[in-house]
Amino acid sequence: MRVFVTGGAGFIASHLCETLLGAGHEVVAFDNLILGKREYLAACLPHSRFRFIEGDLIDLELVKKEIAGSDLVVHLAANSDISQGAARTDVDMRNGTVATYNTLEAMRVTGVKKLIFASTSAVYGEASVMPTPESYGPLFPISFYGASKLACEAMASAFSHNCGIQTWIYRFANIVGSHATHGAIYDFVGRLLTQPECLNVLGNGTQRKSYLHVSDCVAGILYGFEHSRLGFQCFNLASHGVSNVRFIAEEVARQMGAVTGKVPKVVFGEGDRGWVGDVPYTYLDGRQLEKLGWRAELDSDHAVGRAVLEIVMERLAHQRLAK
Ligand SMILES: NC(=O)c1ccc[n+]([C@@H]2O[C@H](COP(=O)([O-])OP(=O)(O)OC[C@H]3O[C@@H](n4cnc5c(N)ncnc54)[C@H](O)[C@@H]3O)[C@@H](O)[C@H]2O)c1
Repeated sequence: MRVFVTGGAGFIASHLCETLLGAGHEVVAFDNLILGKREYLAACLPHSRFRFIEGDLIDLELVKKEIAGSDLVVHLAANSDISQGAARTDVDMRNGTVATYNTLEAMRVTGVKKLIFASTSAVYGEASVMPTPESYGPLFPISFYGASKLACEAMASAFSHNCGIQTWIYRFANIVGSHATHGAIYDFVGRLLTQPECLNVLGNGTQRKSYLHVSDCVAGILYGFEHSRLGFQCFNLASHGVSNVRFIAEEVARQMGAVTGKVPKVVFGEGDRGWVGDVPYTYLDGRQLEKLGWRAELDSDHAVGRAVLEIVMERLAHQRLAK
């Protein structure tokens, strides 16, 4: 297959590109590098079946030209920095809603018939049912990011039903692992690199979410694609259990301490959320994908533990190189 991956230099996409190349596919990665990094594609760039295009999904003519001839589009590009939306309300509209419309329109015009779309638990807002199933509603997101993703899901549904585009939507839990570009672990490690004695945490540490390791995320995406062949399908993609921010902060402090020889002090703030638009408790019901035979290898706490180690090592190596 020729697979067109939007947001190709981002966290999840860079892992997906490696897996797709390993499975023998041709991969075209498209990214404007506002968040993604070329270095995350170091393992892909030398490959003869890989091509990287630096471009913006806002440029519809360019997207049409480059997407033509693809067998599958995996649409992962977005503004993944959720907290930015409150200060700049057009960021998710641009890199989420308009970018997704352009991707879908380019697929329609050029006749590309298969789409995988990365959605999020943020579409559920502050859900009253835990774990939250795909059938939960009504959906009222509380962030601009979540609102944009819900609009994108609706557009993908309309394009699917009107233009015969077979669609797989995945509502991801919090994904963690190497090549991260954002998120609590990435943020905590970054803070400790500049201020090693003390980790100040936004919120009181009680926020709880389900975390999925990026290796499980990529495996789950591909499993659903291979084992569910409806015209339109939507799955939660999550691990078992939830981890709270206190556990994550203490794990980061412990593992940074093991490397540097001094465990930093962790200081928590007030309130049950990190920023405006942050959902303090999310827990996705992943049974729909489990019924097809897929289950994450790592539960939430183990996914966090492995990701902390990966991100600490990656960022320390990066810091050493920069010196
Ligand atoms: N990481 C998570 O925990 C998580 C959870 C739920 C959903 N998701 C979704 O999964 C997808 C991938 O997330 P990620 O964590 O890898 O994020 P990421 O920021 O690392 O990757 C997104 C990529 O999209 C690119 N991009 C943004 N706007 C673009 C545009 N207009 N044109 C071209 N490229 C553009 C960025 O440069 C970046 O490389 C996103 O759609 C995100 O919303 C992620």
